[in-house]
Amino acid sequence: MSHNHHIALLPGDGIGREVLDAARCVLERVSEVHGLHFEFSAYAFGGAGIDSLGTPLPEATLTACQEADAILMGAIGGPKWDGLRGADRPESGLLRLRSELGVFANLRPVTVPESLAHLSVLPAEKVAGVDIMVVRELTGGIYFGTPRIQEAHRALDTMVYDVQEIERITRVAGEWATRRSGRIISVDKANVLAVSRLWRETASRIIRDEFPDVKLDHMYVDNAAMQLVLDPHQFDVILTGNLFGDILSDLSSTLAGSLGLLPSASLGGTTPLFEPVHGSAPDLAGLNRANPVAAILSAAMMLDEWDYAEAAASIRSAVSATLKKGLFTADLVLEGSSYQSATVFTDVVLSNLNLSEPVS
Ligand code: NAD
Ligand code: IPM
Ligand code: MN
Repeated sequence: MSHNHHIALLPGDGIGREVLDAARCVLERVSEVHGLHFEFSAYAFGGAGIDSLGTPLPEATLTACQEADAILMGAIGGPKWDGLRGADRPESGLLRLRSELGVFANLRPVTVPESLAHLSVLPAEKVAGVDIMVVRELTGGIYFGTPRIQEAHRALDTMVYDVQEIERITRVAGEWATRRSGRIISVDKANVLAVSRLWRETASRIIRDEFPDVKLDHMYVDNAAMQLVLDPHQFDVILTGNLFGDILSDLSSTLAGSLGLLPSASLGGTTPLFEPVHGSAPDLAGLNRANPVAAILSAAMMLDEWDYAEAAASIRSAVSATLKKGLFTADLVLEGSSYQSATVFTDVVLSNLNLSEPVS
């Protein structure tokens, strides 16, 4: 593969812009060290798209994303645009982008290295060594079902999955399970929802017929939320739909210590999309306090996608070396304790990128 890649940057709103700057600096440094060549172009998106071009996903942005080799996004949304409805909202720009690209497979890894288990909200001994891959369906379910109606006294959303959508996301989970421990827990609400009963039947059939070495269990989403906190080690690959995956991934961030640590990759479509799990955090915007790790690790997932395993590993090592030294942004310290600004933290990550020894 050529070492020349065009990366479309979508800074978006709030802390999205700040964390994306950090990720870009890290990529620039890594490209120098590893002899890679990246071209970056930034495009208006989300609230920034509304403000500059009147729409959250301007046509020029969509076209550029379709033509790029990968998209690196910050985050979108904020109180300024909260009064808008439906397709006018920043969030619908993101949903339309995912849908237009066809990135149906959203990978949200949650890892808690032993040396960083003390960062968790839960007792360190409970979370040390947790390594979960949430495989979230991203272009279907209640996020996209029609009809969708909002009237003065009544509103309606539609949860719908067809068999083919469940089959293809189950195959993604099956492949991940094969590469990992061979275990999947599929999360649904089959005791109530018809959609979940079809989900359960279809996932069971695909795993039985196509992944005979993979063990598939099913769990109701309410129980899964509790089990994630009670005994996270029972999970390896979690397979789930769009809405449940959204909720469970934010919940899982408490295992690692902060939402600011969780990256994601959205794959399976025309252009891969990499974005932190978190949002635009209006409460932190402009304060130089947003944890850039989620965005930086999303960039590492992009390098993985291009098989630059060494470069990706060097980013992960630099991040964990920085955290191990005890450098934390505000989200990782107790209230009132001292913390580093996001830019100082990023500078230390950048200097740690020069370390030759990988840090486990
Ligand atoms: P949020 O993820 O922005 O923030 C939730 C909490 O986590 C806040 O307390 C915030 O300060 C904290 N947090 C988030 N990222 C952090 C980081 N990097 N470092 C430190 N702390 C961090 O969710 P929200 O407040 O529910 O939503 C705010 C806006 O973001 C809304 O408009 C929402 O629609 C949007 N949103 C966008 C995305 C996205 O762009 N992918 C994801 C989620 C929410
Ligand atoms: C996420 C976000 C989005 C989602 C919103 C902003 C549309 O919460 O990426 O997790 O719900 O998918
Ligand atoms: Mn979310």
